[in-house]
Amino acid sequence: MPEPAGLIHSLLSPRSCPDPYDVYRALRRDGRVHHFTPLNMFLVNGYADCAALHRDRGLLVMDSALHEERRLGRWPQQVLHSIDQWPVYRNPPAHAASRQVLKRHFAPAVVDGLRPVVERQYERELAEVVRRGANGAVVDLQPHLERLPMMVMSTVLGLPPADLPRLVEVVAEFSLFFEVVLTGGQKRRMVDGHDRLIAYFLDVIAERRRRPDGAVVSHLVAELTGPGGTLSDRRLAGMLAGLLLAGFETTVGLLGNGAHALATHPEQARLLAAEPERADAAVEEVLRWDSPVQVNSRVAGRRLDVAGVPIPIGAVVALVYGSAHRDPDRYPDPDRFDITRPGARSLSFGTGIHHCLGSRLARMEAAVAFACLARFPALRLAGKPKRRSPGFTIRAFETLPVKVS
Ligand code: HEM
Repeated sequence: MPEPAGLIHSLLSPRSCPDPYDVYRALRRDGRVHHFTPLNMFLVNGYADCAALHRDRGLLVMDSALHEERRLGRWPQQVLHSIDQWPVYRNPPAHAASRQVLKRHFAPAVVDGLRPVVERQYERELAEVVRRGANGAVVDLQPHLERLPMMVMSTVLGLPPADLPRLVEVVAEFSLFFEVVLTGGQKRRMVDGHDRLIAYFLDVIAERRRRPDGAVVSHLVAELTGPGGTLSDRRLAGMLAGLLLAGFETTVGLLGNGAHALATHPEQARLLAAEPERADAAVEEVLRWDSPVQVNSRVAGRRLDVAGVPIPIGAVVALVYGSAHRDPDRYPDPDRFDITRPGARSLSFGTGIHHCLGSRLARMEAAVAFACLARFPALRLAGKPKRRSPGFTIRAFETLPVKVS
């Protein structure tokens, strides 16, 4: 095995997308914390350390002020302008207000009320997969899985169904934002995706102001940009773009990683088909075993000490969920995918003040999807799937060829 710096380089590579779990294992064996000098980034690999740091108020999220202060220069000004409105990139005290604005639209009763809609949309899309996969034909599951969370988010936000294909493409490009190292071409695609998404939302905001419907965009237009409101249309467009970003590639990753896990563990798929009440447990195990969010990065707001390693103010602290979830001190036999595992609950949605606002929705979507997929008579891989790259932060597929009959 190469030295830790070489291992971390391979995780961060913008081109290749290695299987990270061997790398994490090697890093865990080497130590609890690794400093990656080129980025002044400390990678934290174990579950207990990641969980404790999540609760530590000394860790901040990388808001736009920290970005400018550290002269990171990674993102152009218009992107920083947008992330200013995302709760996930705001620190207290600014954080609470933007979280509050979104929270009630994803309250438990609201999400539970969406279940019949999600079931209808998912059943219809996955019936199409069965139709296309009749008589042993190979189907790429990925485009179908990509449509599903976008259908749901479009319904919640009140976006025209005809816009769906364009949104899938644009948001997928913009999702490169989550990664740490990008090629020049990837960075241009990310910024282009951002600009197109902002232009799109500016049009939607204007349209909803003229013709409100009962969905989230209309509510936010009235509340935040109307009389007494605090946001310009451009700021609201930034907030909406962030919401779509938060809810799309992550959920697509969860669905794809789960479909892959079931296709490669037929005995687990059979168990789920026989006992569909295990769907929620299957979701928790997928979130642990192959988390769509592999890394959550923070910035040290004060000097920290982790496992005897001093972390200076301003350093990036990468909480490596993907590694923490395979930590044998937390999960016995961690590499085994087992939907009957007790206490599988993972770090995948974060914890504390930034805990994911969409976790209930994402869990529900995945439970519906996995219960459907487990009913496919002969779900199995039909060729080598291709992972999305880069894959340091978000772990998802680009193609997922399967047979379903
Ligand atoms: C499998 C799907 C998803 C995963 C794995 C995921 C993961 C995460 C993570 C790791 C965070 C940061 C938590 C922290 O730092 O403590 C987060 C925050 C957030 N997520 Fe999700 N997410 C998912 C789906 C969604 C969906 C569907 C939505 C929207 C409906 C959403 C909206 C948000 C928002 C608004 C925040 C910011 C909360 C705050 O900072 O107060 N997420 N998510």
